Amino acid sequence: MDVNKITLFGGFGKDGSAEKVRKFSMTVGDIVSIVGPTGCGKTTLINDIELFANENTPSGRRVEINDMPVPEDFIFDPSHHPIALISQHTNFLSDLPVVEFLTIHATVRGAKNVESIITETLSFANELTGEAIMQDIAMTELSGGQTRSLLIADAVVIGNSPIILLDEIENAGIHRTKALELLKKYKKIFVFVTHDPCIALMSDFRIVMKNGAMQQLIITRPEEKNVVAKMKQIDDMMLDFRQIIRSGDELSESIFNENFKVLTF
Ligand SMILES: Nc1ncnc2c1ncn2[C@@H]1O[C@H](COP(=O)(O)OP(=O)(O)O)[C@@H](O)[C@H]1O
Ligand SMILES: [Mg+2]
Repeated sequence: MDVNKITLFGGFGKDGSAEKVRKFSMTVGDIVSIVGPTGCGKTTLINDIELFANENTPSGRRVEINDMPVPEDFIFDPSHHPIALISQHTNFLSDLPVVEFLTIHATVRGAKNVESIITETLSFANELTGEAIMQDIAMTELSGGQTRSLLIADAVVIGNSPIILLDEIENAGIHRTKALELLKKYKKIFVFVTHDPCIALMSDFRIVMKNGAMQQLIITRPEEKNVVAKMKQIDDMMLDFRQIIRSGDELSESIFNENFKVLTF
């Protein structure tokens, strides 16, 4: 069955009161953000989605796919599970070289041209991270940013999961706005737990969490879209500065001013 739509029905916050947002739906092509302070329940919310909550988790939430109860094989057969969750603390347990790990996954998934799908996965991962992933390096030796980039690329390209949940990728040294632009090309549902204003405003809508409950659903207005275009320029400028510092160079006022001048607002 193709997943076209996923709906989450609200349950209860930490204090047991009903969530203000009673339900929301995401359809293919949607990008959604979950925002709110640490401890407000963002990870819990995406875990409920990944678990296909059916009033059987502490929040009492419920998930439907295509306006129907979730099919049994989605729940019990891992190869049919349509959701990839890239969590905050993902680490690889396998010390296989990257290329072997990807080969196994692509083969299990029945990929027709394993070599080309691996090339695509690696080049996608390398566009997401600033530190290129060499195909012969062991999975356990990847940095946090490389690990998450590889997992995202693997889920998108090889796993072909229609729904991808990402928990706070911005701390992992991923080029976030570029990642979002790239991900948009794939027709999927992306849910970002994020503290990053660019990611939040590049989303179609965002859910604001408070005290374990979905408090508000805010659709990104055209005005916010205009703001984010400017914010991205600042973001890219900061990334350039970061690169200068990381590579051991010094930042002069003139370099700063040069960079600042090219902002177009
Ligand atoms: N709706 C809820 N009902 C009961 N407990 C909740 C609920 N939402 C979150 N919690 C609990 O609150 C704590 C923090 O939630 P978490 O999802 O980790 O927050 P965040 O990811 O925003 O930092 C966790 O222990 C979690 O189990
Ligand atoms: Mg969290």
